[in-house]
Amino acid sequence: MAGFSFILLHSCKTPESMDQKVEKLLSQLTLEEKVSLIHGNTYFTTPAIPRLGIPALHLSDGPCGIREEYAPDSWNSANWTNDATAYFPALTSLAATWNTELASEFGNAYGEEAVIRGKDIMLAPGLNIHRTPLNGRNWEYMSEDPYLTSRMAVNYIKAAQSKGIAVCAKHFALNNQEQDRGTINVEASERALREIYLPAFEAAVKGGGVLSVMGAYNQFRGKFACQNPYLLQDILKGEWGFRGLVMSDWGATHNTLEAARNGLDLEMYPINGNGDYYLGQPLLDSIKAGKLDAKVVDDKVRRILYVMAKLDILGKPEPDTTGMAALLGTPERAKTALKIAEESVILLKNNQVLPLNMKNIKTLAVIGDNAIRKHAHGGGSTIIKAKYEITPLEGLQRKFGHSVKISFSQGYKVSKDLKSVDQATIAEAVKMASSVDAVILFGGLNHEPGLDCEGDDKPDMKLPYGQDELIKAVIKANPNTVVVMIAGSPVEMGSWIQDVKGLLYTSYLGMETGTALAELLNGEVNPSGKLTYTLPVKLEDSPSYVLGEYPGKNGTVNYKDDIWVGYRYYDSKNVKPLFPFGFGLSYTTFSYESCKVELAHKTEDLSCTVSFDIHNTGKVEGKEIAQVYVRDMESALPRPLKELKGFAKVSLKAGESKKVQVTLDKRAFQYYDPAQKQWVLEPGKFEILVGSSSDNILLKEQIEL
Ligand code: BGC
Repeated sequence: MAGFSFILLHSCKTPESMDQKVEKLLSQLTLEEKVSLIHGNTYFTTPAIPRLGIPALHLSDGPCGIREEYAPDSWNSANWTNDATAYFPALTSLAATWNTELASEFGNAYGEEAVIRGKDIMLAPGLNIHRTPLNGRNWEYMSEDPYLTSRMAVNYIKAAQSKGIAVCAKHFALNNQEQDRGTINVEASERALREIYLPAFEAAVKGGGVLSVMGAYNQFRGKFACQNPYLLQDILKGEWGFRGLVMSDWGATHNTLEAARNGLDLEMYPINGNGDYYLGQPLLDSIKAGKLDAKVVDDKVRRILYVMAKLDILGKPEPDTTGMAALLGTPERAKTALKIAEESVILLKNNQVLPLNMKNIKTLAVIGDNAIRKHAHGGGSTIIKAKYEITPLEGLQRKFGHSVKISFSQGYKVSKDLKSVDQATIAEAVKMASSVDAVILFGGLNHEPGLDCEGDDKPDMKLPYGQDELIKAVIKANPNTVVVMIAGSPVEMGSWIQDVKGLLYTSYLGMETGTALAELLNGEVNPSGKLTYTLPVKLEDSPSYVLGEYPGKNGTVNYKDDIWVGYRYYDSKNVKPLFPFGFGLSYTTFSYESCKVELAHKTEDLSCTVSFDIHNTGKVEGKEIAQVYVRDMESALPRPLKELKGFAKVSLKAGESKKVQVTLDKRAFQYYDPAQKQWVLEPGKFEILVGSSSDNILLKEQIEL
């Protein structure tokens, strides 16, 4: 036996390496075939080359689940009856959990659904930074902070890709507004680029191993993002060593030679929706006319084949999706959606009203359109045909319907005119509110155009449809009112915040929305989400408004707010927000003690371990998100007062204490020096700040580097 296996081992051909496989295929392709591979053949696929076993690529939106199937070359539904999927919470919600394990769970569940639907590349996660409160797509992106975004993204990407799909980090880069997104030119300093807008993409590539990146619609420094040599060639593929493929956003390609030379590998969406592709016939013509070296195409095809090889789909039959209906949106994945929803909701105010004491509540009024609105099928490219979606009202009815008389009133009417106020609807709600034991008012935004929706920005930060008026009147009619604000981007709440007893704040929560909210309201689950962006008092306080430009002048938006984005601005410039970044209450309380900082120099890098104790000082079990900020005490270039560089979420029983350890790496202390064109560590004093939010620092230690 031993001899046999010896012979076998030595007679076996060494398996072809991935690169060899790719190079062999590349050498067998004709130029025409190669060109066919670098652009779509329908809105969401690339063509197969059956003679070489090169499969089609199946792409799909979006971040909240796997988008429904479309008829080829159209935005019309394919009308399948078996493509309803799990509807996961928005990425703003995922980030609000500050739970990196949940980011992995999200990725796992999402990856599994994508495989079942026969998808190869999922067009998520969106990693753009919240720059202005008005961006119509903020809710699709995680945070105003690059570190939090990076940490969540890396786990999400690794987990999703471990299921055998590729994900796509988008929109690279500086796509921070929807207004004029197809043309706007962004001017930003090198520091803002490196410290604020790129780190999440860098982490996705270096830490997450993301296999594809989507170029954005906008221009950066005068060149469209999908044809931008600095972003794509120098930084992404050069400095970061990205080996995967760069695809265009849909219709974001503008010129054959620039796209071909400057780093775009796959053009998606035909010119004007129905014509040829810039990387199609015009590219072949350019090569034949001697304007472009055919080798340029090789690099693109090599990257596409590399991704296929990584996915192990070369030479394999088309995925079998029969019977998928039963495999999608399973109870296990719904449970993942529920867990994320539960941990993402943020308790902003609680004047001894929450959790609701259901024993004392016999009559409950549920008010507001968001109590009955389903959000899955809205918002733009993220739309989901959800297996189901439990609304807040349904969640409350299921949980309390047997013991409490629940009545519903519309409260406000959704209309195209965001400023419209329907007095009769308000009056009806107020009347109902005055006659019950308690009121839960579900307000906020939705995915209607002009709100949390792709394609445009919000006109302002105000609540639409007269909600301020409604909320004030309802609170007056019944002080026992809790407001649940469903919004994926900041809204003004200053005119009634003083008067409301309880306020829960959340982004879009997915298929188990109602279940999660009912559990949080009655205390079965203790709120543990924290804000991933600052809630300013008003739009006029926000840095892009005060320092920067928005939405731009004469086709250019100048990011004069520079690195002063989000809390970096409010903190350093002493502008008090309504609620700070990282803020969130619990039904219990925590204390922080005994901070210790230990520095260790590894071979080239340094590692700084911050340890401290957290004690649950309240009466119920809860989870706390401890945040570690770093402050550079003295630096050649101005630096924010503090920057988030670590965090940990810990679960503690009532009375329990735990030691928490957070490790900071070298990058935690560095800034990007444009003069030296690199990240630098300036020796000197640094403060390590540990707190429960960006403006509640509880422990402090100084170190010298
Ligand atoms: C969006 C992308 C999306 C693509 C395909 C574009 O409009 O910006 O995020 O993936 O459409 O639907």
